[in-house]
Amino acid sequence: HLYQNVVASSGSMIVVSNRLPFVLEKNKEGNLCRKASAGGLVTAVAPVVVNCKGLWVGWPGIHLEDPNQPIPESDPNDITPTAGLKSDKVVSVRIDPQIFDSYYNGCCNATFWPLFHSMPDRATFNGEHWRAYITANKEFANCTLTALRKLKNTENAGDVPLIWIHDYHLMLAANWIRQAAEDENISCKLGFFLHIPFPPWDIFRLFPWSDEILQGMLGCDMIGFHITDYCLNFVDCCQRNLGCRVDRKNLLVEHGGRTVRVRPLPIGIPFERFVELAEKAPKVLSTTQKIILGVDRLDYTKGLVNRLLAFEKLLEKHPEHKENVSLLQIAVPSRTDVKEYQELKEEMDQLVGRINGRFTTPNWSPIRYIYGCVSQNDLAAFYRDSAVGLVTPLRDGMNLVAKEFVACQINTPPGVLIVSPFAGAGETMHEALICNPYEIDGAAEAIHRALTMPDDERILRMNYLRRREKINDVNYWTRSFLAAMGSLITQEDHDEIG
Ligand code: ADP
Ligand code: G6P
Repeated sequence: HLYQNVVASSGSMIVVSNRLPFVLEKNKEGNLCRKASAGGLVTAVAPVVVNCKGLWVGWPGIHLEDPNQPIPESDPNDITPTAGLKSDKVVSVRIDPQIFDSYYNGCCNATFWPLFHSMPDRATFNGEHWRAYITANKEFANCTLTALRKLKNTENAGDVPLIWIHDYHLMLAANWIRQAAEDENISCKLGFFLHIPFPPWDIFRLFPWSDEILQGMLGCDMIGFHITDYCLNFVDCCQRNLGCRVDRKNLLVEHGGRTVRVRPLPIGIPFERFVELAEKAPKVLSTTQKIILGVDRLDYTKGLVNRLLAFEKLLEKHPEHKENVSLLQIAVPSRTDVKEYQELKEEMDQLVGRINGRFTTPNWSPIRYIYGCVSQNDLAAFYRDSAVGLVTPLRDGMNLVAKEFVACQINTPPGVLIVSPFAGAGETMHEALICNPYEIDGAAEAIHRALTMPDDERILRMNYLRRREKINDVNYWTRSFLAAMGSLITQEDHDEIG
């Protein structure tokens, strides 16, 4: 019912992203099955596609030999929103494994990811990776065009389909789709949403082919970012790199005889779904200690090393927390073929070992470290039963974990959220404790303050945080995106269309 007003003229939305909301794996019997994939994009977009009955074009996580191999349906026990995505709504993209490696591990995750998170020293610049990025984007564009042609021949032929492209993997795809669709006289609207930050011009221009990226994105009718700062960075780059005429106040960019709209559209979560999960999830934390919780992909942008150091500092400066508090860090393995991620894994293992070795007593270990994915039920229980949610990235487009944590705070008194000002969430979740993860002493003090915060202050802060996230949920985000595209069709309109 949450989505009943959001109908992108049912069935004519095509979502395009690098990753499908599941990874295909072979089970013991050798049959393909779906496994949920983690990450902010999938969490946010899956309910949108399912509820709009849209098509999803993306990569299934393995290289399928047979392009016609059928995609299995979801497991009957799957409780994620992805479960509702039927196989006939999925278009799986096939790319040569070597090209894919250079595109995904190279250009996307060793260049754009660090660069767009303003960490240029971690970025590599490589012409072969860039060429693979172009090839892969063309393949995604081709698959999208095939889906678009099919739509043209269905009962929805009268609708103008909406193609919604996601994230830094696919910044070139729009232009090819637009050109081919125009050549074939197929109407469509193209929208783009970037789930990560868009960096300032002085960082963006380090990328040797930065003009091409802007031109690719400007193939869309509308481009969404999480917050206004990222919009302004993008507009600035269009003006300074390409010499486009821009309107910074109204966030418009003129390019190729068209005007492209740019919009801040802060993403939300399926709030009510997390409340329900938190209400039903059995208790999993059997402990008398207060829990400080971190939930992240194992990624250097998440500030995990600084977080552990801040926790160590807390135990040094406030020894009264020893044996009374534990840090539960859940880190889901991510991009394990990329060197920077392998090094971070090593560093974390060593640091957890060192801090635990230093403080552990016969009855208590300060850090519990889970390197893996946890189920939605366990995740909700962890969120609900933790005293402090620690969300301290060095840089993050938005950060959904901060929002999931507040949604699950159904106990009285609630927990306290600590958030970094360098995450999009830090810009919007004003009642959280804001903490700069680069300053270890300050971060330790923020944790101490959270642990000792009076109940009435916890309640007041959490009430405001929950109210905002409940209203600005993922449904609101979708509606805002469709409205900005001029594609929002309400239930009443839809009934009228028939
Ligand atoms: P990012 O998009 O960089 O991964 P976000 O915080 O925006 O960061 O989104 C992460 C998403 O992945 C959240 O929906 C979170 O619940 C999920 N997630 C992260 N770590 C885990 C984990 N260890 N187990 C299960 N889900 C996880
Ligand atoms: C972030 C990105 C997503 C990506 C996710 C997981 O949320 O914005 O595009 O899907 O991380 O990363 P992965 O490389 O596993 O897809």
